[in-house]
Amino acid sequence: MGMRTTIAVIGGGLGGYPAAIKAARMGAEVTLIEKDLLGGTCLNWGCIPTKSLLQSGEVIKTIKEAELFGIHCGDYEFDFTAIMNRKNHVVRQLRGGVQKLLAAKKIRVIKGTATLVDPSTVEILETREKIKSDKIIIATGSSPAKLNIEGGEGAGILDSNGFLEMKRLPSTAVIIGGGVIGVEFAQILNRMGVNVTILELMENLIPGIDAEIALALEKSIVEDGITVFTKANISKIRQQKGGNTTCFTFQEKPEEIKAEKIILSVGREPELKLLNAKKIGLAHKNGTLVVNDRMETNIPGIYAAGDVVGGMMLAHVAIAEGECAVQNAMGRKTTMSYRAIPLCIYTSPEVASVGLREEEAKEKHDIQVGRFPFYACGRALVLNQTYGMVKIISEKKYGEVLGVHIIGPHATDMIAEAVLGMTMEMTAEDLAHAVHPHPTLSEGVMEAALMICGGAIHMP
Ligand code: FAD
Ligand code: NAI
Repeated sequence: MGMRTTIAVIGGGLGGYPAAIKAARMGAEVTLIEKDLLGGTCLNWGCIPTKSLLQSGEVIKTIKEAELFGIHCGDYEFDFTAIMNRKNHVVRQLRGGVQKLLAAKKIRVIKGTATLVDPSTVEILETREKIKSDKIIIATGSSPAKLNIEGGEGAGILDSNGFLEMKRLPSTAVIIGGGVIGVEFAQILNRMGVNVTILELMENLIPGIDAEIALALEKSIVEDGITVFTKANISKIRQQKGGNTTCFTFQEKPEEIKAEKIILSVGREPELKLLNAKKIGLAHKNGTLVVNDRMETNIPGIYAAGDVVGGMMLAHVAIAEGECAVQNAMGRKTTMSYRAIPLCIYTSPEVASVGLREEEAKEKHDIQVGRFPFYACGRALVLNQTYGMVKIISEKKYGEVLGVHIIGPHATDMIAEAVLGMTMEMTAEDLAHAVHPHPTLSEGVMEAALMICGGAIHMP
């Protein structure tokens, strides 16, 4: 005889555990099933560990620049094992916190692999326990995509999980895929003295972001010493002792690079293995579960959230989708809005973006663009981080802001103002006339808006 629950959540990542907490807060009896580690990719293999490593790299950069601030540090050394241990410590601490939160809400957490028996029954593969549930939320996430070329797998070739488990730094690395993971990993390695090359298939790094911002990021990381090949067409990897050789064509010429480690960051694939989704008739397209704007699948009572539904595979999107799924599962009709979703890259300079890219906005609207460079911002000068700009795109007739793109210090925190504003359908005038604190980087946002509304204070 199995147990009964109101809501069963499959997957304890960002699409799953916040949804479980929300459901419990709303009075549901909740069971959460996780086959591996609570916190999922984001906490264990993604957002948190990578940001911890980027921060270690940032400390190295700060030490190197200390002379500029009048501070003599002398020689410095770093210990890669200690850097990885700190990363693991941060992850463990947060995972412990999630465990406590779930316990405090009296959520039953099952460690095991869930499979769907029918639209209201989940079975745990390891124990054969069956759970009857009124509603089910699938949040099984994603896993690293493979590179389907000759030699695409083998010794010395790591995906993002392998990267985060490295025991020692390589001296050379080739990163295949210049998306978000690719550039963040490249900067971690570069700051720690590794000779890094990025090979990207498309014309620009991070194909999803505003082209001007992507080029500014590329310029900055190239200045740091990272080699970038865009429009690189990889044909094979030759496996050799002491490192593998990546063969590719660049500008129609064959090229080869040998590196101790090859890191693959060519996207992620939704995780549906073992779930039995097809067998019970769940609709899917290109490997992702199909949901409506209430995050409900084609089977009433089964919802899905996070990377498993595709789209923007981001932690905050997973949280928002999970919350939407719970609201609907609990009978409160609500729809998921993708109007103002930020995308952040935690390199230095940071990149943050919300809304339409200039090239997209131009196609759909009559637009105006305001740019404000950080070299004209007092606070940026104080920080010695003057590279970058704020770029605001608004439509001409009513002035509604269509997109905000920032490259520069603390861009990932500053974007929140634009996210809120765009959610409220703000105009460039609203942004330009809101009083911003001085001296702050956020004045850059106000000044960029002023560039649209008659001119910035600190630009000629
Ligand atoms: P996941 O986090 O993948 O969680 C799914 C969980 O379900 C896993 O724990 C898995 O073990 C479990 N599971 C799967 N199948 C079953 C089953 N059958 N039974 C039981 N459990 C199952 N996003 C950002 O917004 N900001 C960032 O800075 C960022 N950095 C990233 C860096 C890296 C290197 C990577 C790889 C990703 C990063 N992401 C970032 C993306 C972010 O991690 C994902 O969007 C987010 O984790 C998605 O959450 P999820 O719950 O949908 O999936
Ligand atoms: P991605 O989709 O961002 O980038 C993959 C890159 O690989 C693309 O630029 C693509 O053109 C390139 N590519 C694909 N095939 C290739 C090939 N054969 N040769 C060369 N290049 C090739 O995926 P990524 O970086 O793997 O990240 C996965 C997910 O994790 C993304 O959806 C991202 O949103 C999320 N993530 C978010 C972060 C953040 O928010 N800061 C950080 C890291 C990951």
